[in-house]
Amino acid sequence: MLDLVLKGAHLATCDGAGSAAEQLDRRPDAAVGVEGGRVVWIGPSAEAPAAREVRELEGAALLPGLVDPHTHLVFAGSRVEEFTRRMGGEDYRTIAAEGGGIASTVRATRAASEEQLFALAKARAEALRARGVTSVEVKSGYGLTTESELRLLRVARRLEAEGVLRVTTSFLGAHAVPPEKRGERARYVDEVVGEQLPAVAEAGLADAVDVYCDDGAFTLEETRRILEAAKARGLKVRAHVGQFADLGGPALLAELGGLSGDHLEAIDEAGLSAMAEAGVVAVLLPGAWRTLRQEAPRAERFRAAGVPMAVGTDLNPGTSPTTDLPLCAALAVRDAGMTVEEALLGVTRVAARAAGFEEGVGRVRVGGPADLAAFPVQDPRALPYALGGLGASLVVRAGAIVAEGPPAPVF
Ligand code: NIG
Ligand code: FE
Repeated sequence: MLDLVLKGAHLATCDGAGSAAEQLDRRPDAAVGVEGGRVVWIGPSAEAPAAREVRELEGAALLPGLVDPHTHLVFAGSRVEEFTRRMGGEDYRTIAAEGGGIASTVRATRAASEEQLFALAKARAEALRARGVTSVEVKSGYGLTTESELRLLRVARRLEAEGVLRVTTSFLGAHAVPPEKRGERARYVDEVVGEQLPAVAEAGLADAVDVYCDDGAFTLEETRRILEAAKARGLKVRAHVGQFADLGGPALLAELGGLSGDHLEAIDEAGLSAMAEAGVVAVLLPGAWRTLRQEAPRAERFRAAGVPMAVGTDLNPGTSPTTDLPLCAALAVRDAGMTVEEALLGVTRVAARAAGFEEGVGRVRVGGPADLAAFPVQDPRALPYALGGLGASLVVRAGAIVAEGPPAPVF
């Protein structure tokens, strides 16, 4: 007797080999059996084993629980005022240079209690989950002091401890120079390397270290210093690179064996081939390029260079206020030219690799974690076909049903 069987599914395991369509591995009328939080059986519905709980999906799409490889979901405050100014024509980097932007979220986040931050983060995590997301990368970066960065990472880890989502964390002390240290950037980088990073590493709160390496943020030399210090402590590395300018961050990530380079609207050819060579995943962030009204990166360049592509929400108050990962996949197809299959792999197995999750996350395979999401559509390819608003009809995390939505097909 298994714990749970989902049957009558149009399954995409995302665990195949070969072309993108073969990796997607669609199987109409499939069933998945779950025991002890793991997938233990996959096969035709007619042959499904007995289980204590059986759900008939009536042809609905079933995928691995989606993986969001890039979020900043622990923050307080609103940036609607700034959004209104920006949509009226003011520039993101100019507002940031005047002490708005990231710094304004830092002020609101520091003023919130840890309990308030957790409640906000949990609400956002549940909103992601309602879209079929079961695993998420969460960055700090709105505290920018040792104590407040530790607080954000504790909140992120608590989301996993309380069973909301599977979480991997990145310390992003180098997100911006904090308001009280404006004009003292060298001192701030010293603090990140000499105080914040050691404290975070010793507390065991970060799986990786991230740096915002760009025009208006941190330089290539500063990024190298921080990421080398991270590696010396055994942490994985990733970075925000090429959002506005390619400062050489992609090549640095390749040299350091980074998990992912994220944004990449402005990456040059040398950076692309270095990433391909080293197997660094490109994380594309449609919410940010849309909100900043930027030209999308061209998927064909990444494809031609052999760089694997993932898609994230970039969930943050400044440049990407969204929890709709399927919408981001839909925009990556329409704006960047990803294929439907690439976009689906980009929010599952490739996203899991970018985020640094254990083998099997982002795939449906025997022995892998039973993280699954069903959607009220009849074909998994309808995820990026739907232009936003698609919720999951059933979400399973580590074998337990954690969310249910409307079951009726909408497309
Ligand atoms: O990923 N690029 C840097 N960080 C965020 C924006 C953060 C903010 O504006 O609050 C991003 O787009
Ligand atoms: Fe980001």
